[in-house]
Amino acid sequence: MSFKAPRGTRDILPSEIEKWQYVEGVLRKLCREYGYSEIRTPLFEETGLFARGVGEGTDIVEKEMYTFKDRAERSLTLRPECTASVVRSFLEHKLFNEPQPQKFYYIGPMFRYDRPQAGRYRQFHQFGVEAFGTSSPVLDTEVIAMSNDFFQRIGLDDLNLEINSVGCKFCRPAYNQLVLDYYKNKLEKLCTDCHIRYERNPLRILDCKNEKCLSLVQDAPSLADNLCEECATHFSSVLSFLDSLNIRYSVNHRLVRGLDYYTKTAFEFVSAELGAQSSLGGGGRYDNLVEICGGPPTPGVGVAMGLERVILALDKRGFDPSLYRDKRVFVALAGDDKLQHEGLLITQELRRAGISAELDFMGRSLKSQMKFAGKNNFSLVIILGEKELKEKAVLLRDMQNGEQEEIKRSKLIDKIKEKLKRQGKTTEEA
Ligand code: HAM
Repeated sequence: MSFKAPRGTRDILPSEIEKWQYVEGVLRKLCREYGYSEIRTPLFEETGLFARGVGEGTDIVEKEMYTFKDRAERSLTLRPECTASVVRSFLEHKLFNEPQPQKFYYIGPMFRYDRPQAGRYRQFHQFGVEAFGTSSPVLDTEVIAMSNDFFQRIGLDDLNLEINSVGCKFCRPAYNQLVLDYYKNKLEKLCTDCHIRYERNPLRILDCKNEKCLSLVQDAPSLADNLCEECATHFSSVLSFLDSLNIRYSVNHRLVRGLDYYTKTAFEFVSAELGAQSSLGGGGRYDNLVEICGGPPTPGVGVAMGLERVILALDKRGFDPSLYRDKRVFVALAGDDKLQHEGLLITQELRRAGISAELDFMGRSLKSQMKFAGKNNFSLVIILGEKELKEKAVLLRDMQNGEQEEIKRSKLIDKIKEKLKRQGKTTEEA
């Protein structure tokens, strides 16, 4: 019998991991610059948290959760997203008593029983940030600017930022009613999913991608015309802050996100290159969520990006992670087993000096060791033979230009550092 990774999940093999580590490195650096601290919450939570936080009527809660009973009959769910978990943790640890705003970030797997296809998985990874404690539109702008910076830094600089205001608990009910009235006599023209949305969550009809529903949405009432004064002012402030940062956006009054907790600002970063799975990231403000989850009224705003989609978009651009690869040294042994002792000492010495180094274990010919080093992208090869051992020296070969020279053992580390520096930057510097 042979086992395979479960449908909708995938292994990230060492050949791919460089791209992930590069992207994660950029994200962690960005978070330090913006003052967001990492939070790690459990991969599963009580089911009720998502039902309440994300919303009973959403596709996520209705169709996509991995819910199971543990041995004590508790209903638990693999997290389909992390905002609700961060809110739970914020409350459980009474972080609302700390100086505000509290700003968090996370990177990790999420689980949704989605229909798998390119860019859509059942286990996927998100990077996200959540910031609590102020309803200032500057914080909405900071979250958007940070996402925008991230995409720019990794070279995805032509995404479209779509933005909308989805109103608040004061202006949305009246708008909901307008939408219900508009669709009342058009129900037979909507897709079957939208029939259910009509009953449970009418605003979601507005961003249904079904052809039938799209044709009707043009004339539906616009929330933009029905925002209360506070929401309208908040929205125009966010837009003017974005303008002053020269961040381009398009206002899309049909943008409603698939989670119920949003209030006021909602946004998405969309790629023209990724077909159906075009949303690389999205987020917005959620001023009622902390209260809904049982805490004191505390506004919040955040964003999450799908890292698989980010990597797919980078692949489409022919991104070359080797530019950011750690430079490594291979220690090749040209002779019998006696050389192993010295080879091991040299390798350890390099590692202690902070240089990534590997030793040949396979007893191969020098020719095949060189081939191995070339294929595995080592930057430098140290060749140690009987003659060099006697002369307290090694041969050092630069794999980028093929130059080879003899170096005294006592000068080896300095020489290697100098050569690596000349070859380019290392991962930590990226
Ligand atoms: P979301 O729009 O459901 O928002 O997901 C954010 C991103 O996760 C999407 O834009 C997409 O890139 C990625 N994503 C979602 N589902 C999948 C999937 N099945 N396979 C691959 N990638 C996927 C949220 O999750 C909110 N918690 C974002 C947020 C944070 N809002 C406020 N704070």
